[in-house]
Amino acid sequence: MIPESFIQDLLARIDIVDVIERYLPLKKAGANYVACCPFHSEKTPSFSVSPSKQFYHCFGCGAHGSAIGFIMEYAGLGFIETVEDLAGTIGLQVPQQRPDERRPKAAGTAPLTEFMTRAAKFYKEQLKASPHAIDYLKSRGLTGEIAARFGLGYAPDGWQGLAAVFPDYSDKALAECGLVIEGDAGKRYDRFRDRIMFPILDGRGNVIGFGGRVIGQGEPKYLNSPETPLFEKGRELYGLLQARIAIRDENCVIVVEGYMDVVALAQHGVGNAVATLGTATTSTHVHKLLRQADRVIFCFDGDNAGHKAAARALDASLEQVADNKTIAFLFLPPEDDPDSYVRAHGADTFRTQARQAMPLTDFLMQELKSGKDLATAEGRSQLVHAAKPQLGRLQAPLLRLQLVKLLAQASGFSQAEIESLCGLPAIVRKPIHARAPRGAPSPIARKLLRVIVQQPGLAARLSADLIPEGHAETGVLNALIVAITEGELAGEGYGMVLEHFRSTAHESLISEILGELVEEEFDAESIEAVFTDTVERLRQAGIHNEINALNAKNKSVGLASEEVRRLQQLLMQKQSVKPTTSA
Ligand code: UTP
Ligand code: MN
Repeated sequence: MIPESFIQDLLARIDIVDVIERYLPLKKAGANYVACCPFHSEKTPSFSVSPSKQFYHCFGCGAHGSAIGFIMEYAGLGFIETVEDLAGTIGLQVPQQRPDERRPKAAGTAPLTEFMTRAAKFYKEQLKASPHAIDYLKSRGLTGEIAARFGLGYAPDGWQGLAAVFPDYSDKALAECGLVIEGDAGKRYDRFRDRIMFPILDGRGNVIGFGGRVIGQGEPKYLNSPETPLFEKGRELYGLLQARIAIRDENCVIVVEGYMDVVALAQHGVGNAVATLGTATTSTHVHKLLRQADRVIFCFDGDNAGHKAAARALDASLEQVADNKTIAFLFLPPEDDPDSYVRAHGADTFRTQARQAMPLTDFLMQELKSGKDLATAEGRSQLVHAAKPQLGRLQAPLLRLQLVKLLAQASGFSQAEIESLCGLPAIVRKPIHARAPRGAPSPIARKLLRVIVQQPGLAARLSADLIPEGHAETGVLNALIVAITEGELAGEGYGMVLEHFRSTAHESLISEILGELVEEEFDAESIEAVFTDTVERLRQAGIHNEINALNAKNKSVGLASEEVRRLQQLLMQKQSVKPTTSA
């Protein structure tokens, strides 16, 4: 576990503006900085970074968070990796790791990326010195410019080529990052030999893996890095870093199957393509893709394998697609893949095809209908039977309804019949973090929470018995007051507040509150008055509730003399409460 105090210390020492500027050009606008939001597509900037709050917020899509949250979202890194990354930028050592994190030896991962980077550099240099590799790339229609953009390289033919850059060829890390293979007799050799090398980058531009293509004919055609602590195939997309700007500009991302497809499309000016890495599309992929653009087009080869891959992608998409997103499928002619297609027909034709790709619902209906004879009652029943699990997984309410309508038309059942036969559950989006069970919201408690987040110093003037019990806000309000009064929050930035509650049951509520506050803060002059008024109203409400409780008890079992005194006291207090203006 990284100590909370370290996180707070880290956040106090970095500046969110510097951090975000590493990824996005920021423009000064008054006290804040603005940019076009990297989390949704837009033409005018609504993404704002506040140095005083150490918080970013997009007024368009509502994305917000701390410097840590930004890197996690933007670069797709885990929490620990992000903290390590940020700590590294200011020369801090992360004190202690949680032993069961995804990376068993987190401390050992920094060198691993260094090994990969050094290897990539070596392969690139080797390409320059290898005419037959250059000729191969030229024969595939690639220019030096595109080869450079994708960092293409060449692994020389020879068993221990990497020994040239890694004097300690027996280093454990070389095997750990998949660059060398441990032979039977304990003899090591390079995994990649006489191959064109495609480096696979993460969101930060670190090399995390390689794909290596044989030059000309040979088996296997592509050799890939194994899964390593750096490289998890089901999460990564080839070419995403290079495609990011084109994806944003077109608000569309094209997913293809091969390294060469991505590179060839870029060569022809179609810059918004990425590839899955020789694995089926996962829902993590789809989630990542939908964060980049509103439209995702899967473009698979026209052959049987392509069709299967599309069916898998469809499956991975059902839970991720939303009503404001489009997922579509483009099937090329059987003899083509995106590379050969764009070379034969040009970018414009390819783009036109992509625009006309088959929407998810059409493809799903086609898949469901396939092999069923809808002229028979049996076939029509089988259609609905087959649709049941798919419908249940679809989390977009409007799309699901559309699909029910299509199924009704095709099956002869009514919509209501389909809905009840399929036992469609109400759609509840699964939150990414577990939420605390929330009681009924209390507007007054929420207001108090907002006031205190904006001006934490006020917490010192609150007494715990004022906080109303049993509301959605109760827990987080109490926790916040403790954090402030015990000095666990080092500064007043929203970024710190959010990080304090990361991975706790209060995370989603506090995030919501911070978003509201950024959009509408209390005026500095009136916040004191709002606070006093809110506290006064809470006091009133508390008195009111206690009086009601005592009256009820009096009616049923009667009151003890102490309780009678308490009731009288309360009634007097109630009268002394001054009417206040509501803020
Ligand atoms: P393809 O066989 O469609 O290759 O594999 P391709 O992309 O058209 O390659 P070129 O045009 O012949 O150079 C698609 C993807 O499947 C994975 C790779 O990721 C490849 O890009 N694959 C394929 C492998 O991992 N290993 C293989 O042997 C073949
Ligand atoms: Mn190909």
